[in-house]
Amino acid sequence: MELPKLRIENLQPKYPIVQGGMAVRVSTASLAGAVANAGGIGLIGATAMSMPELREEIRRSREIADGGIVGINVMYAATEFADIVHTAIDEGIDVIFTGAGFSRDIFKWGKEAGVPIVFIVSSAKAARIAEKYGASAVVAEGCEAGGHLGTLRSVKEIVPEIREAVDIPVIAAGGIVSGKDMFDMIKLGASGVQMATRFVLSYECSVADEFKKMYLNAKEDDVVIIRSPVGLPGRAIRNEFVKLLEENKAPVPKSCSRCLKKCSKEYCIVKALNNSKDGKVDEGIVFVGKNVFKIKEILHVEEIFEKLLSEYYAAQTFS
Ligand SMILES: Cc1cc2nc3c(=O)[nH]c(=O)nc-3n(C[C@H](O)[C@H](O)[C@H](O)COP(=O)(O)O)c2cc1C
Repeated sequence: MELPKLRIENLQPKYPIVQGGMAVRVSTASLAGAVANAGGIGLIGATAMSMPELREEIRRSREIADGGIVGINVMYAATEFADIVHTAIDEGIDVIFTGAGFSRDIFKWGKEAGVPIVFIVSSAKAARIAEKYGASAVVAEGCEAGGHLGTLRSVKEIVPEIREAVDIPVIAAGGIVSGKDMFDMIKLGASGVQMATRFVLSYECSVADEFKKMYLNAKEDDVVIIRSPVGLPGRAIRNEFVKLLEENKAPVPKSCSRCLKKCSKEYCIVKALNNSKDGKVDEGIVFVGKNVFKIKEILHVEEIFEKLLSEYYAAQTFS
């Protein structure tokens, strides 16, 4: 099986590989630009960025991408959702990925500007609705994914159902860390894959070394499901902060910038994610995909692509 072509409207990356957007400055220009340059689609995690910062990140990522495809990921749950989308469109972004809530408006804004909108879903029903409103592709994200989860079902179950339900491209996400995983997803009907955890363990990802060390040291049992004030479950590495959360002792925020449309305020998720990204890993949440324990090394983005492609073709030969 040849690598499928991932065509999202008029965009077609060299390889059908998307680097999943990671909020609170985990996927910034250095990573998204490098992925785009290597032939994939690189996504800046725009949620929680200020507008000048977002503009700067998009410009920087374009320089690194050298003509490659760069997009943003934005969560509908963010208060500044509309501003983020308009700022990215104004900066000439190639594509917008969105999820964690449904917005009809984004499809209208995308259409007016000629920017494809890719919707992140976890069920055939949601995929059908997204297609009806004008999504150019969907990401079918299973429970193996890092960050907030829309389902507790496996990507292996939902990809065939979603493939069956819609005519637009389906990009599989959750727990994909090797070319063999990619091959399996494509066999199930995906036109491409979205991967995040594998790309955190790259030199181009700008998180603190302590964050990457947590990833490298994580064993299978260390990855757990946590409660998030957003109202969705999340997948993260068990650490001191998660233990506090399990005992209902997570620090209650002293102040609040109302960055989310809905928030239980049990703890501040943005502060917790920022802390860990900056290296204070025990005072924060380290979001991660289920299969992090299978990744053994930090590589350059280009090396990750080479490895994925050679593993993909090896899987094909032995299938
Ligand atoms: C640290 C981290 C932060 C994430 N932040 C976001 C986000 O802001 N928006 C989003 O839609 N998905 C987010 N995700 C999910 C990823 O984009 C991706 O779909 C998912 O992690 C894929 O699974 P994998 O990590 O096993 O490859 C995040 C994942 C991680 C690991």
